Amino acid sequence: MFYDILDFPWEKQYKKWRPGLLKDVYGEVIEVGVGTGRNLRYYPSNTKVTGIDLSKDMLKISAKRGGFAECDFYPVHEDATSMESIPSNYFDWLISTFLCCVMPDHLQPLAIDQFERVLKPGAHFRLLEMVYSKNTMLRRRQQLFAPLIQWAYGARFDRNTLEYLEKSSILKITNTYFLKEDIYLVIEGDCEK
Ligand SMILES: C[S@@+](CC[C@H](N)C(=O)[O-])C[C@H]1O[C@@H](n2cnc3c(N)ncnc32)[C@H](O)[C@@H]1O
Repeated sequence: MFYDILDFPWEKQYKKWRPGLLKDVYGEVIEVGVGTGRNLRYYPSNTKVTGIDLSKDMLKISAKRGGFAECDFYPVHEDATSMESIPSNYFDWLISTFLCCVMPDHLQPLAIDQFERVLKPGAHFRLLEMVYSKNTMLRRRQQLFAPLIQWAYGARFDRNTLEYLEKSSILKITNTYFLKEDIYLVIEGDCEK
């Protein structure tokens, strides 16, 4: 619950974006880094959502939120970089919001390998991440707050998630766009294997 309190000022904004990120999702879904389950209430009723996270405490809260959601929700204590208990070629969708910005760069290729493995051929993925703005003023403001954001959430603006995804021969990016300024980046694509 401490995390939810810490996250409250940002969540006021994020909750406006979450429905749009999830409205077209269907079938078997894996949400990687599900956290406290902030997305769960926005999944359509025809979805079965497996939510994985490293933190057992976060998962406990997500399980409570899942109880009120229209989707079927299965919380699993699992590492995105190994996903040992997660079957291959199983999911129609992979969703991840603010996972890679907390994940060190050297772990990102490992997580992307797992994304490739668990998605079905023809499946889809959508990620929401924070990145540094190219606007000098905005970037300076981000740089000012970066130590606080890293301390409080473990999140950084300088992860190279898009570059790692672009190297995948299986995950094909079909669209990228920003939800606010050039900071909140959505990366969408398909699994071609
Ligand atoms: C910033 S929170 C975002 C939570 C949620 N997706 C949201 O949008 O509110 C990042 C989450 O990723 C989880 N996480 C970080 N590294 C992970 C890993 N290697 N495997 C699984 N979860 C991880 C953290 O425990 C945390 O719950």
